[in-house]
Amino acid sequence: MAFNFNEQSDRRHSDSVKWNKYPENVLPMWVADMDFPTAPCVLEALHQRVDHGIFGYGTTPDALFEVVIQHLKQRYQWEVKPEWLITLPGVVSGLNLAVRAFTEPHQRTLAPVPIYPPFYKASQLADRAQQTIPLVLNQGRCVMDLDAAQAEMRGDEKLLMLCNPQNPGGTVYRRDELMAQLAFAERHDLIVSSDEIHCELLLEPGLTHIPFASLNERAAQRSVTFISPSKTWNIAGLGASLAIIPNPELRRRFAIARQGIVPGVDVLSLTAATAAWRDGEPWRQALLAHLRRQRDRLCSAINAMPGLQVMPPEATYLAWVDASGLPVDDPWRFFLQHGLAFSPGKEFGDERFVRINFACSEATLDEAIARMQRAIATCGL
Ligand SMILES: Cc1ncc(COP(=O)(O)O)c(C=O)c1O
Repeated sequence: MAFNFNEQSDRRHSDSVKWNKYPENVLPMWVADMDFPTAPCVLEALHQRVDHGIFGYGTTPDALFEVVIQHLKQRYQWEVKPEWLITLPGVVSGLNLAVRAFTEPHQRTLAPVPIYPPFYKASQLADRAQQTIPLVLNQGRCVMDLDAAQAEMRGDEKLLMLCNPQNPGGTVYRRDELMAQLAFAERHDLIVSSDEIHCELLLEPGLTHIPFASLNERAAQRSVTFISPSKTWNIAGLGASLAIIPNPELRRRFAIARQGIVPGVDVLSLTAATAAWRDGEPWRQALLAHLRRQRDRLCSAINAMPGLQVMPPEATYLAWVDASGLPVDDPWRFFLQHGLAFSPGKEFGDERFVRINFACSEATLDEAIARMQRAIATCGL
């Protein structure tokens, strides 16, 4: 079946945060959702569930756990037991719970920077200090500088917050890099939370995602992994997510932290998630082909613009663009004034950058590139 990722849907009239934040003359390419309708198999499952007409309290369908367990085994050779799985209404809730469940008020968290802002907000909200692990460019990839982090360790660190694939930057960590992260965690006796929400969005054909917890039993026993179909099948507004916690004591602490505060997942979201993981592979493959073309077009256009530089992301639909060569104080504001709403790099920890969401139609991307070129032309570079 052919899928069309170039049809323009009107999202301004659909309560979309992405399309309603800025005035109509601004192209929104910021928050991480895509401009495409979700996979037909997800729509069909939702229609069927809606037609049932009753939306009382639900239980997690057995089919969801069966599908997820099968999926993790087949794709990542990771054998997960049903009791390790905990449903959540969003990964960000999970990040916040991990900080509260696994650290004491006097203990610090660690996170790579630049990073998706809820990583540091989760620590701030729980009144925990956070130490940063700098991301450095190494052969075109943003990777963690664990030696630099090592030099800053004080002994009060407890939670290492990983993001794989990395947002922003799109790095897909290789096995040796993950083993180094595990060795670091073991050396400092850290619990590891691994946000793997973008793991089905690998754009480089030869790469494979390796779940941190699948490295070995030691990694499994000190980790919580977060996954969700929300980014890949564009159902972030539904939010169904999973925490995977093999260690019973960590699971118990996580369950206590969520009690009475974080609700279960609603029945429609569970239906959508089950259908996406069970039947959504052909759609995902077509999506990846479209995203690869978009990434390649955007990145070569940007690298031909004076003052801008970008490393093509190995995964995600988010380009992390270095605008430090532009003669402007605030690149995010500069592009906004030229009709483009990107994500400000400042929110991720580096104000010289902007993050561009290229999960849109070819026509939208063409328009964005044209606006960028016109904007850059005003700089006289
Ligand atoms: C790394 C990462 N984690 C979590 C989320 C959001 O998760 P949720 O919407 O399930 O809370 C995002 C969204 O962009 C993300 O990039």
